[in-house]
Amino acid sequence: MTASSGDVSGSGERVFLRLGPPPEEPNQFVVEGAPQSYSPDVQARLEVEAKEIIGRYPNKGSALLPLLHLVQGEDSYITPAGLEFCASQLGLTSAQVSAVATFYTMYRRGPTGEYLVGVCTNTLCAVMGGDAIFAELKEHLGIGNDQTTDDGSITLQHIECNAACDFAPVVMVNWEFFDNQTCESARELVDSLRAGKPKDPTRGAPLCGFRQTSRILAGLRDERPDQGQGGAGAATLAGLRVAKEHGMEAPTAPEDQS
Ligand code: FES
Repeated sequence: MTASSGDVSGSGERVFLRLGPPPEEPNQFVVEGAPQSYSPDVQARLEVEAKEIIGRYPNKGSALLPLLHLVQGEDSYITPAGLEFCASQLGLTSAQVSAVATFYTMYRRGPTGEYLVGVCTNTLCAVMGGDAIFAELKEHLGIGNDQTTDDGSITLQHIECNAACDFAPVVMVNWEFFDNQTCESARELVDSLRAGKPKDPTRGAPLCGFRQTSRILAGLRDERPDQGQGGAGAATLAGLRVAKEHGMEAPTAPEDQS
């Protein structure tokens, strides 16, 4: 933990700021029993997949983010084994890999359930009901933020804005959107997950487990049916529709003067 002090008030009074991770954030990748290395079989399989991913980039260091998803798909979180694997494949140190992995909240620091349920509690979703939904799910599931149900089915998390504010309040399951949620619909959603009969997302492909989701995010093949579920919804296109109804057009760009 670091600290900073200085006269920021202009009054001569020194102000002391203690800096460090948010109090709710787990420490670095320290989980008792976490794998320190992979078995030869797993190592060989991951190396084949890593090679395919690395081959897509002119600079192999650019493959770090997808490789972190790849090892997260193996362990459900970032483990010492995963950090070491990424480092060895990319010619980096474990410290360099860890520095990147801790920057992004999509890389998990502890074991993750089959479904990562993220409730957006950023400003717009919060006032539209996200805070109430998060409180409801904590109560309903009997777990707190970043905790997993005893049956291993659900990890609950409050998340930041997922750029779906026009569908607020939004709940994401394994990064698929469930739009315009209510406390009741969110309860029904997690019940469907625990029953092994997951509801379909409002937009996007059918749900798969968290590890498989991580492998898809790594860039490996997505076997889920694509029936055109994605794309912009009516709320996102509302402004465009109104503009068309009123014959509005964007001004043309000025001629390039250079
Ligand atoms: S505030 Fe929730 S998606 Fe933007």
